[in-house]
Amino acid sequence: MTQRVLFLPGDGIGPDIIEQARAVLGHANERLSLGLDFDEALVGGAAIEAAGTALPDDTMSRAREAGGILLGAVGGPKWDHLEMANRPEKGLLGLRSGLGLFANLRPAFLYPQLAEASSLRPEVVSGLDILIVRELTGGIYFGQPRGVETLESGEREGINTYRYNESEIRRIGRVAFESARQRNGRLCSIDKANVLEVTALWREVMEDLATEYPDVELSHMYVDNAAMQLVRDPNQFDVIVTGNMFGDILSDEAAMLTGSIGMLPSAALNESKQGMYEPCHGSAPDIAGQDKANPLATILSGAMMLRYSFGMEGAAGAIEKAVQDVLEQGLRTPDIHFEGTQLVGTRAMGEAVLSALDTHL
Ligand code: NAI
Ligand code: MG
Repeated sequence: MTQRVLFLPGDGIGPDIIEQARAVLGHANERLSLGLDFDEALVGGAAIEAAGTALPDDTMSRAREAGGILLGAVGGPKWDHLEMANRPEKGLLGLRSGLGLFANLRPAFLYPQLAEASSLRPEVVSGLDILIVRELTGGIYFGQPRGVETLESGEREGINTYRYNESEIRRIGRVAFESARQRNGRLCSIDKANVLEVTALWREVMEDLATEYPDVELSHMYVDNAAMQLVRDPNQFDVIVTGNMFGDILSDEAAMLTGSIGMLPSAALNESKQGMYEPCHGSAPDIAGQDKANPLATILSGAMMLRYSFGMEGAAGAIEKAVQDVLEQGLRTPDIHFEGTQLVGTRAMGEAVLSALDTHL
């Protein structure tokens, strides 16, 4: 693995936000002599237009060469009529499975300056800082057998299979325990062990791992209760680890507690810490190319890349502080704008982060 960063702008607002994140990372790279080199390739609808497929071989081979990949977003109405197998999203799924990106890290962090955006009362949500570790390449989304069959009676039956083996559980468990160790030392594993055997196994493996991490306090919670607890008292959580489907749902729920989809980064890592980083939001075709998109989730995804794939904690922290600074200055893109703050566009926001960065490098 190299010190290469591959940028995949993709579709919709993808190019708008990647341009800003690339500038910020480029600035940190130069000022701190990080030794990163930059590459860029096509994915999603943009790749369909240029090369007839959402994930061209050239993109895949450049992705394999990169230590970190920063993706904008893929998809849009232009490609909605295509069959599932030929759609822009196939580019993302191909990268995830091709690179074995099994660990999805999704922070839900409430910036104090944006507390008004949350749907929860300030006293409930203030200080929110959760990391959800979601298994990304197994579970019911991938288990075999699957499909829709016609029974002898003529009635149709749909089947999906919820399957995890011990080593799949163990490797995601390790990522979660390691993350908890670097944060506040609390890990909550979420399952449905009272009903689903596969998640009872999940619980057993987590218990087993806990003996290797005596400094981490492990607890367990059923997923239905977790959904309630997240809105009742989200601050009880530090790191959450869960399977693919529960993680999909709970991470979206946790994201909404912060109220600002344009602020949330994410990471997907494999065993060698190679990772694909992207904002949690989609390609927002309604505002594409209009200098309206919030680039902060993508810039923060870039910071996560420096931290998790390249071990550059100092540079990552500096970018995160620069983002805090611009919020403190009152700068807001339309998605996080409210009275008394200053409305700016995508470029102005990116440039403000870049200038603020200098004070932290
Ligand atoms: P979306 O996240 O693109 O947009 C939802 C709403 O949030 C829109 O009103 C949009 O303008 C706003 N929004 C999103 N990101 C923003 C940002 N950075 N700054 C300001 N406002 C922002 O979700 P939607 O509309 O469901 O999907 C649009 C397209 O994106 C679809 O084609 C979908 O398949 C694709 N998509 C791609 C994802 C990816 O590439 N990982 C993830 C989710 C959706
Ligand atoms: Mg989802």
